[in-house]
Amino acid sequence: MSQLIVQTEKLNFSYSKSKKDIDSLDLEVPKGSIYGFLGPNGSGKTTTIRLLLGLLNKNSGNVKVFEKPFANNRIDTLSKIGALIENPSLYNHLSARENLLIASNYRGNIKKDRIDEVLETVNLLRVKDKKVKTFSLGMKQRLGLAIALLSKPELLILDEPTNGLDPKGIIEMRELIKKLNKEDGITIFISSHLLSEIEKTCTHVGIIREGKMLFQDTVKALTASQSDQLQIELETDDKHRTYDQLIQMGFEIKSIEHEEHLLLVSVKEKSQIPVLVDSLRKNDINIYQVMIKNNLEELFLNLTEN
Ligand SMILES: Nc1ncnc2c1ncn2[C@@H]1O[C@H](COP(=O)(O)OP(=O)(O)O)[C@@H](O)[C@H]1O
Ligand SMILES: [Mg+2]
Repeated sequence: MSQLIVQTEKLNFSYSKSKKDIDSLDLEVPKGSIYGFLGPNGSGKTTTIRLLLGLLNKNSGNVKVFEKPFANNRIDTLSKIGALIENPSLYNHLSARENLLIASNYRGNIKKDRIDEVLETVNLLRVKDKKVKTFSLGMKQRLGLAIALLSKPELLILDEPTNGLDPKGIIEMRELIKKLNKEDGITIFISSHLLSEIEKTCTHVGIIREGKMLFQDTVKALTASQSDQLQIELETDDKHRTYDQLIQMGFEIKSIEHEEHLLLVSVKEKSQIPVLVDSLRKNDINIYQVMIKNNLEELFLNLTEN
């Protein structure tokens, strides 16, 4: 198994006694990955990130970053992490370059030419002397990213970096993230509430809801499980004839629900659904309902509704 850059074990945290905000969370971020932390608003993404960075104190469980317990190596660990949480705090009345100068001053150990380097990386070199208040949101986000890159981090943590950006801004940020991962080998942990965003950018994914990890694997495995094990719920006017007909056609019928008219049928891909429907219609079976029941798919629907 590949080396884990971030690992939590049974991480628990609550803001108040009434509710568990992070609930026994096991997070595993492999070295070199772009890890998408996916969950609807309020599911605990920002809270988890604050716990990883030691900005909040966990109630119980372990947090390891770079294979060491975070608590014992805080300063050393943080020097290797670049983070962008929610909106970057920038001085609007100053230029991009001046913002980076200030950030590098309180970070220390950063050479002057590093500022132009990061400006170039995020494609802001040409506007480096313009005041930040004239910047679009996308440019401000990229400047925030430039600040996070100043200390040449091994791990970048980005909290919803495309939130509020226009389509062009989203694509620029996505390409930038991929480039930093590929060319500089930076492991990237990125949170989002959009499945489509994670699918396009990430190699790995963890899905969180109400503080619990629901699924964690490679994006490839996620896509495969989406298309491989499609289950559909079928309601017709004649359950037994439907059953016989589908068995004859070679469909796998996983279980017969207790409900009078419902069948649960496995199909390999969506394109089999119209085939199935056509054959039932040809046999004068009336179809009242065809519903995709794949757990993961349902999960996504819920997630992406937000
Ligand atoms: N400062 C806070 N005080 C109390 N509750 C909070 C605070 N910040 C977040 N929460 C609650 O913790 C839960 C997780 O929030 P958050 O981590 O911000 O979710 P996400 O980033 O996924 O949108 C939510 O129920 C939210 O209302
Ligand atoms: Mg958040």
